[in-house]
Amino acid sequence: MAEDFSFAIDRALRQELEGWRRAGLSHLPMPRRKRSAASPPSASAKPATTRTPPSSNSVSRTTSPPVTRITSQPTTAPTTHALPVVAEPLPPSPHSLGSREDREWRLNQLRQRVAACTRCQELACARTQTVFGVGNPEARFLFIGEAPGADEDAQGEPFVGAAGQLLNKIITACGLKRDEVYICNILRCRPPGNRKPLPEEAAKCREYLDGQIAAIDPDFIVCWGATAAQNLMGTEESIGRLRGRTFQHGRATVLCTYHPSYLLRNPAAKKDVWEDMKLLLKQAGLLVPA
Ligand code: URA
Repeated sequence: MAEDFSFAIDRALRQELEGWRRAGLSHLPMPRRKRSAASPPSASAKPATTRTPPSSNSVSRTTSPPVTRITSQPTTAPTTHALPVVAEPLPPSPHSLGSREDREWRLNQLRQRVAACTRCQELACARTQTVFGVGNPEARFLFIGEAPGADEDAQGEPFVGAAGQLLNKIITACGLKRDEVYICNILRCRPPGNRKPLPEEAAKCREYLDGQIAAIDPDFIVCWGATAAQNLMGTEESIGRLRGRTFQHGRATVLCTYHPSYLLRNPAAKKDVWEDMKLLLKQAGLLVPA
């Protein structure tokens, strides 16, 4: 009897989690832990352990577990961090889980929601259009930037301005093509005057980012700049301390590095980004340019 009961609870829980996963939720928020006085001021995300480079881009995806857990452990609760907003679950995808059609379908559902989103009144009033994301839904590499600027707001695509031109050069230098990656931002609307995203704006947009990560299910996530790194992983650690190593976010290995806009202002930091890119390529099992 007790066993029947626990089986029923287990099944109900699985169904509930499956519903959330289909809605695009990639993780369940964990209670924030206070950093103990003795703990070092390290990044809150857990450094990645060595991964075997995946041999195929699509095979394992169809068998990935229904709920991706964030293995990074926030250590402090930044007072400015708002709780993520979770809206209506997406309807179940009509396509086989993890297929290209399934990913495209889920991304399209999210894109439509983003286009109609008015959660951040100030941004929704000021935007020309939303900037959802662009790229290959089966990409191994997901790039996350900060927020659209004027050029992106005008064209509806991330990283098309000066920073985007530099990002393109970095992608090419890595031996990759822009359509081999997927690119999005922490925010999908341009903050007025290109100011930094507010924590509550990032929290309201988080559902869309998590949905994109869940749909694409990348092997690697590159956080370009502190805003992307800190928001994705829930840390206040500086980008200078987060770069140069990798972290684990669900199934994906995360690499954080300087934002291309920062490189435009501080070209000396390009060598650090190049070191980071070589680490990324090495972990991905790709040829590392000399
Ligand atoms: N900077 C970003 O972080 N994202 C863009 O899309 C453009 C510039």
